[in-house]
Amino acid sequence: MLTTIKEISAHVGKEVKVGGWLYNKRSSGKIQFLQLRDGTGFIQGILVKKQVSPEVWEQANHLTQESSLYVWGVVREDERAPGGYEMDITNIEVIQIAEEYPIAKKEHGVDFLMDHRHLWIRSPRQQAILRIRAEIIRAIQGFLDENGFTLVDPPVLTPSSCEGTTNLFHTKYFDEDAYLTQSGQLYMEAAAMALNKVYSFGPTFRAEKSKTRRHLIEFWMIEPEMAFVDHEESLKIQEQLVAHTVQAVLANCKQELKTLDRDLSALENIKAPFPRITYDEAVELLHKEGFADFTWGDDFGAPHETKIAESFDRPVFITHYPTEVKSFYMKPDPNRPEVVLCADMIAPEGYGEIIGGSQRIDDPVLLEQRYEQHALPREAYEWYMDLRKYGTVPHSGFGLGLERTVAWICGLDHVRETIPFPRMLYRLYP
Ligand code: 4AD
Ligand code: MG
Repeated sequence: MLTTIKEISAHVGKEVKVGGWLYNKRSSGKIQFLQLRDGTGFIQGILVKKQVSPEVWEQANHLTQESSLYVWGVVREDERAPGGYEMDITNIEVIQIAEEYPIAKKEHGVDFLMDHRHLWIRSPRQQAILRIRAEIIRAIQGFLDENGFTLVDPPVLTPSSCEGTTNLFHTKYFDEDAYLTQSGQLYMEAAAMALNKVYSFGPTFRAEKSKTRRHLIEFWMIEPEMAFVDHEESLKIQEQLVAHTVQAVLANCKQELKTLDRDLSALENIKAPFPRITYDEAVELLHKEGFADFTWGDDFGAPHETKIAESFDRPVFITHYPTEVKSFYMKPDPNRPEVVLCADMIAPEGYGEIIGGSQRIDDPVLLEQRYEQHALPREAYEWYMDLRKYGTVPHSGFGLGLERTVAWICGLDHVRETIPFPRMLYRLYP
């Protein structure tokens, strides 16, 4: 039975067998220091020439970076060791002496690292990010599962668009045209009418020719949808969800955040409630802050969002956007139909929009008018109209972009490091 490095503390004074890879090696002639990693952690193994057979010593001499091996050794507590433990090696069995590893310890350019993404993910920093990503998913699903939401999986291949037709990924579905999903929302609305509070978690696709640090072509979204919930209540759920997620990462990923050198004080602030400003107020703020020619009715770009976020120490909701810049399904404000009951949640520290959400149009007559205004093919939405014919109810939902949330919580420069194998403009490999 193998022991993992993560659980090594339970075996002090005993001999264990670990399966792993050589991360680094130092030698002083009579002693070799083998830095081992097994994916659960790092540990130093100490090999003393006098204490092992000549064969074992000889094998260790040939180990290169990323060589795979089994190591037997006695676990010892050591305050000076990074993880608090070391191993006195008694035996090793080499599985493979690795070829010269392309990712040396020197600096590499981003393109080189991206071409070697399948190996790059072995680095301590990338491991930390992927572990935090997993914790974020766990925290979000945990929160929703505990608050009465049911997980529902919408399809990936779809006959219609949810977020406009300009960035649809087209494919053939035998003789029909089909698209990769941009958002599961419309299906989640159907699910909410069946199961009340629901959420989906899956990949979504946008053929956007954007080459920014916030855009991926394939990204993962969590999309809650809630029957009998209005815009205001939806905001409360969103802020609780995000605050819970940040606190879970702080509590459960201390080591990973340290590896990333993340400024924890910026995360400790993240508690509900979050501030709210209207689109109108945001425009006013921009006019005062050097964006004098921003006109009412335009959508915010990254520099605008960053400027707005600078005024707050936690995520901020921008609510009530102009109806014309938002999607066809958003419910107009009954008191002011030129704006919709929607909100984008903008993360602090320049990370931009992490959530887009709204109350949905429940009135069949109003929804009917929207297809033409948005140049959408009416036939593809026949089933969606049924949701307004057979017991329509007020309902709201939102989509949380996983990679932007991971980038923010980890404090990364770019979303490309937040997903194991990023799909970006000009990058489909590996
Ligand atoms: O604001 P969006 O487009 O909203 C929707 O798709 C709604 N149908 C969601 C819903 O109400 N169920 O996208 C939601 C979030 C954004 O706030 C952003 O975090 C992320 O998805 N996102 C992207 N992340 C990475 N790369 C891209 N190209 C993204 N586009 C959106
Ligand atoms: Mg949006």
